[in-house]
Amino acid sequence: MWQTEIAAPTPQNIQRAADLLRQGEVVGIPTETVYGLAGSSFNAAAVHKIFAAKGRPQDNPLISHIADLDMLPLVNTDIPDSCYALAQAFWPGPLTLIMRKAPRVCSEVCAGLQTASVRMPSHPVARSIIAAAGVPLAAPSANVSGRPSPTDAETVCSDLQGKIPLIIDGGACSVGVESTVVSLVDDEPVLLRPGYITAEDIARVLGRPVKVADAVLHALRQGEAVLSPGMKYKHYAPRAEVTLVRGSLENYIAFVRQHAGQGVYGLCFDGEQRQIPLPCITYGAADDPAQQAQRLFAALRELDNCGAQTVYARCPLHTGIAMAVYNRLLRAAAFRVVEV
Ligand code: TXA
Ligand code: MG
Repeated sequence: MWQTEIAAPTPQNIQRAADLLRQGEVVGIPTETVYGLAGSSFNAAAVHKIFAAKGRPQDNPLISHIADLDMLPLVNTDIPDSCYALAQAFWPGPLTLIMRKAPRVCSEVCAGLQTASVRMPSHPVARSIIAAAGVPLAAPSANVSGRPSPTDAETVCSDLQGKIPLIIDGGACSVGVESTVVSLVDDEPVLLRPGYITAEDIARVLGRPVKVADAVLHALRQGEAVLSPGMKYKHYAPRAEVTLVRGSLENYIAFVRQHAGQGVYGLCFDGEQRQIPLPCITYGAADDPAQQAQRLFAALRELDNCGAQTVYARCPLHTGIAMAVYNRLLRAAAFRVVEV
């Protein structure tokens, strides 16, 4: 049992985090997407601590975070040209690439797969911590498995208090949803998880279309192969039962009027709450998907804090950055969608 400390990102505290990481401990770190729970990708004991603190299923692999391109060969081998093109365009930033695994990365990081995922975050504090530790850092989102990802240091602490020694506070995350995940393992690039960097962004750089894995926008069918194990779990979920309501605001209002009651909340776009006959939490402007991404997870946690039992959520678009918002909300809703 640790006395978990939230510390400012001073040079001394960054060094302290790096020392802990080199000793095989785990540390909560800020990134531009969401907070991560970091441990050395080369240290099996540290990786075990990550899985234990989160209660994460063992078959779900972790992303290794690097500070610069010199670290890339520590994580991957057989690196294709498409990786360098995407790195040039989007690193440091919210893009994760899956390629063949290099030998030093522990098999626990990759959940036994022959592939390893890698990302160079743009958050300066994340990069300083990785550079000071001198090793790639495996870091899943710093939430208890299944809960919404944390976008500030206090939320990390509320999930992992007592389980980890230190959280470095880098402020609120600017992107707010996890990185875009693209597999470069086969000839055809495949988008496994949508994020701030869109399928169109990737396709533009590669000069070819990018396949969007079925599981991004649909529930997996029985027996369907799972390309990215993280996609098969109920995820990002508040305690309340969430339903996505797809249709116009007018029809949404008519629908929730029939379903209002004790513990029933709306999750809607900014300004709409005045017309909706439910207590509401908002998650950004209807025409600003980047803002929706930035605010979604905090909004889901706020619904819990209000004691919401049932949530009817206004449905975001499915394209561009909004694909990331829709993908997370769909999982938070355990794929319950009603058309109105
Ligand atoms: O933005 C992010 O990516 C954050 C921050 C902390 O960097 N990290 C994050 O990690 O979201 P995590 O563990 O919550 O999500 C990693 C996702 C999972 O869906 C996992 O299944 C998938 O990436 N993944 C990782 N390695 C993989 C691999 N070798 N093959 C297929 N999927 C992989
Ligand atoms: Mg996660």
